[in-house]
Amino acid sequence: MNENKQQNSPTRCGSSVVTCCNALTLYAGIGGNRALWPDNINVTAVEIETEIARAYKDRFPNDTIVVGDAHEYLLEMYDKFDFIWSSPPCPTHGQYRYNVGVRAKGYKALYPDMRLYEEIIFLQYHCQGKYVVENTISYYKPLVKPQKVARHYLWANFDIPDIKLPAAGIRSKNKISEWEEELGISLRDYKIPNKRQVLRNCVDSRLGSHVIAQAL
Ligand SMILES: C[S@@+](CC[C@H](N)C(=O)[O-])C[C@H]1O[C@@H](n2cnc3c(N)ncnc32)[C@H](O)[C@@H]1O
Repeated sequence: MNENKQQNSPTRCGSSVVTCCNALTLYAGIGGNRALWPDNINVTAVEIETEIARAYKDRFPNDTIVVGDAHEYLLEMYDKFDFIWSSPPCPTHGQYRYNVGVRAKGYKALYPDMRLYEEIIFLQYHCQGKYVVENTISYYKPLVKPQKVARHYLWANFDIPDIKLPAAGIRSKNKISEWEEELGISLRDYKIPNKRQVLRNCVDSRLGSHVIAQAL
């Protein structure tokens, strides 16, 4: 793994002190969930795709970015952070691939990626700080009961009230430029093969802000 900054020593956040907080964002993408986090938090992000990690780093130059496997990083480093956000890949859980892909278009059926539940159970039993695992609403009954917030399932060790967010426009927006405009970013300078997917994958920043506000 390639880490471009030394990890800060961990400290606990009190409800009124956020300047001390070390936060981890796993499966970071280009940082949708992280974009509206308070400025005074030390953020470490883990992303496996080099060019996506480069786009993240350009967007958040003060963050530590690790290019590597988030699942492995969590196992080794979970106790170094006060707040952990994980967004494991959702296609094998979500309703869209199941209903539209497999059932309507004949895509290959796949096993649900159980790293999602490995992380949920691992964090439930080992994490001393605050954590949230975010995923899409699944096509099956979740194996561990989540909180349903906006269009997401969230597994967390704190309460997260529901929030109303405008529809993401998965079907209505098609052009990369439309997504870029909405998110206020440009991927023009990056060699990312499926830019539309990367933009679409971004968690709404207002959800990220709402969630971290409950945690700290
Ligand atoms: C749903 S997106 C994350 C969205 C992000 N949390 C946001 O709010 O913008 C999932 C990301 O995880 C990355 N990814 C997939 N497998 C990974 C792994 N094993 N380790 C680290 N990153 C991974 C993908 O390249 C993709 O950028």
